Amino acid sequence: MAFLAEALSRVKPSATIAVAQKARELKAAGKDVISLSAGEPDFDTPDNVKNAAIDAIRRGETKYTPVSGIPELRKAIAAKFKRENGLDYKPEQTIVGTGGKQILFNALMATLNPGDEVIIASPYWVSYPEIVLLTGGTPVFAETKLEDRFKLRPEVLEAAITPKTKWFIFNSPSNPSGAAYTHAELKALTDVLMKHPHVYILTDDMYEHLTYGDFTFVTPAQVEPALYERTLTMNGVSKAYAMTGWRIGYAAGPLALVKAMDMVQGQQTSGACSIAQWAAVEALNGPQDFIRASKKAFEARRDLIVSMLNQAKGITCPVPEGAFYVYPSCAGLIGKKTQDGKVIETDEDFVNALLEAEGVAVVQGSAFGLGPNFRISYAASEDMLEEAGKRIQRFCASLK
Ligand SMILES: Cc1ncc(COP(=O)(O)O)c(C=O)c1O
Repeated sequence: MAFLAEALSRVKPSATIAVAQKARELKAAGKDVISLSAGEPDFDTPDNVKNAAIDAIRRGETKYTPVSGIPELRKAIAAKFKRENGLDYKPEQTIVGTGGKQILFNALMATLNPGDEVIIASPYWVSYPEIVLLTGGTPVFAETKLEDRFKLRPEVLEAAITPKTKWFIFNSPSNPSGAAYTHAELKALTDVLMKHPHVYILTDDMYEHLTYGDFTFVTPAQVEPALYERTLTMNGVSKAYAMTGWRIGYAAGPLALVKAMDMVQGQQTSGACSIAQWAAVEALNGPQDFIRASKKAFEARRDLIVSMLNQAKGITCPVPEGAFYVYPSCAGLIGKKTQDGKVIETDEDFVNALLEAEGVAVVQGSAFGLGPNFRISYAASEDMLEEAGKRIQRFCASLK
């Protein structure tokens, strides 16, 4: 339609939302569907956080806030970065947005000019390339491999850098692969970045608190302090405290960048919801037992689903270190036929046939830029995961 902006024609609708919608429709039509497509914890927001929001309403904290966030939250964010990541940020170097997603928009809107390139490792979170396109930049993809458990090799990062590179978006633990970088793996990437002083790093640490076993989370400015001046460290309460609907994300970085982001936000939303900001203060400053409990639950679910997937014929699933996703390969099933004679040519065919035959909704790897794979979100009960695992095994065994 000629009336719509040209930029919109380059953007795809979210595949994860499309799958969730299809699963809902099938469910409404009476089909027994297990949807493993959700990008959010299935737990409720902790009570202390809910109560902080209720108190905030009662106190009348219901007016516009400063654009970058209430001072109490910016102080809590600076304290969080110090306490958990060993990073020194002053409260004025922090900014609160309406979800991590808006932080990304603010940062890219504030910095990208036409032709500027943004490096994104694939498989990637579906929104990175689309946000880059909407804000006028060009996404450049750097591929990872299943053999490397979806971690970017330094030479692949090096090869993707050009004089036009403005940002490298780094995401560990990753949506969709769950891959998280150890100190040594991240240092190999920051060594490359040290050689290219024109490249800024946007690190999306959204899944920081969801890592399993004895894995230790690290973030770029911590691993290479010399990158502090060109790193925007982004995080949020959505995944860590089961607060996806509250829409609070935050970041800290060089003052000039944060001021520019404040300018964008001031003309866009005027700032995040006042009540949700007070809830986030409690999430960051209050007791942290919720994180320990959800970590434990997710780890058991990860182990269950990975084991069941690796017992399915034709599926290979590496064990991811974090987040609540697995990203198995279905390469072993490409070219096979379903019971009703359909040939599986792509991961999208696999995903559609699985949904039709067994009512299990997962998302095709083509949506995340690397396949043939599919993403399973294990933010679901162990009973549901066990049933889904059985159905996937049955479906894979039925392919000829
Ligand atoms: C990697 C990653 N970054 C950022 C976000 C956005 O989080 P928020 O809900 O805070 O906007 C998500 C949400 O799915 C995500 O998976």
